[in-house]
Amino acid sequence: MYDTVALVGATGAVGRIVLDELAKRNFPHKRLRLLASSRSAGSKVQFGDQTITVELMEPSAFEGVDLVIASTPDEVAAEFVPWAVKAGAVVIDESGYWRMKADVPLVVPEVNPEAARSHKGIIASPNCSTTQMVVALAPLHREARVRRVVVSTYQATSGAGLSGSEELRTSTRANLDAQAQPPKVFQYPIAFNLIPQIGGEKEQGYTSEEMKMVYETRKIMGDDEILVCPTCVRVPVAIGHSESIMVETERPISLERARELFASAEGVTLVDDLGSRQYPMPRDCEGRDDVFVGRLRKDISSPNGLAFWCVSDNLRKGAATNAVQIAELLVKQASLV
Ligand SMILES: NC(=O)c1ccc[n+]([C@@H]2O[C@H](COP(=O)([O-])OP(=O)(O)OC[C@H]3O[C@@H](n4cnc5c(N)ncnc54)[C@H](OP(=O)(O)O)[C@@H]3O)[C@@H](O)[C@H]2O)c1
Repeated sequence: MYDTVALVGATGAVGRIVLDELAKRNFPHKRLRLLASSRSAGSKVQFGDQTITVELMEPSAFEGVDLVIASTPDEVAAEFVPWAVKAGAVVIDESGYWRMKADVPLVVPEVNPEAARSHKGIIASPNCSTTQMVVALAPLHREARVRRVVVSTYQATSGAGLSGSEELRTSTRANLDAQAQPPKVFQYPIAFNLIPQIGGEKEQGYTSEEMKMVYETRKIMGDDEILVCPTCVRVPVAIGHSESIMVETERPISLERARELFASAEGVTLVDDLGSRQYPMPRDCEGRDDVFVGRLRKDISSPNGLAFWCVSDNLRKGAATNAVQIAELLVKQASLV
């Protein structure tokens, strides 16, 4: 269906995992091209038994490309995506630039697969903290309509790309050696610390990361009345975002029913047995594609409330896996026409 697939940002934290997911899921294609900036053009990347040379991303690079999976900074996506669409490609974009545009579907296949059908050449994949939250909320929303969500995130350093991962290593080493190490990626040293700011300052004292969780959740779940109060925190964890979620629904959901809903939901794995110390943790979720839910309980402060803990690999379901699942969805939807 898509003969030539191009990965833009193939050398980044997410792009490397997209490559891995394409191979793991045996995504159907004939030719794979890898594009990046002049910093990486010419370097070699292994894909199965092929060695692929990274090419410079420029307007002519999209000739003959059918499908693009892109993971670049926002400003790069703003510029190149129209080149790719003009050349006739469908673009699945991981950046924040296109997500809230009215004619761009924002898709999580377990939640709103039908939205992908209305694309006009661009499909956006959400912010990592939003993706795992909506996968967990979707079964509750279908059952009893989600009204309000209070969420605190504990976000891994790889959420800020390869340079974020590197800064966790250098900051930790410097701290253990009692050396000063001025931060470059994060606002403060990340080792042995928590930073309650991800992104810049936005409206009413919320950060850009927090407001993404508000607006993207409503768009994906197709309900502008869902209220979301987020606090996003960077933590010294390499891979895997965690979230403490309190959700209120229009109609009450019993604990037993919530357990059933999570246990049968697509893309969710329930790990929930406090007595046996069973709950999701980033170390256990790294390298896995699902969204993991545990510590499920009634919110004792709200009659229609549930509280739970949710962990997912931000580079996989939070980014690369979701994008490759969208690509698979497009192939499936086309085959059903
Ligand atoms: N990390 C996550 O958990 C996560 C989750 C969801 C969404 N996202 C989004 O995914 C995107 C990529 O994030 P990342 O974490 O993978 O960042 P990253 O590790 O910094 O990688 C950035 C990639 O973009 C490429 N790039 C930068 N400038 C370019 C240019 N001018 N032309 C072509 N390629 C260029 C880089 O190539 P070079 O090697 O040439 O520099 C690299 O491959 C961002 O928009 C991010 O918000 C990330």
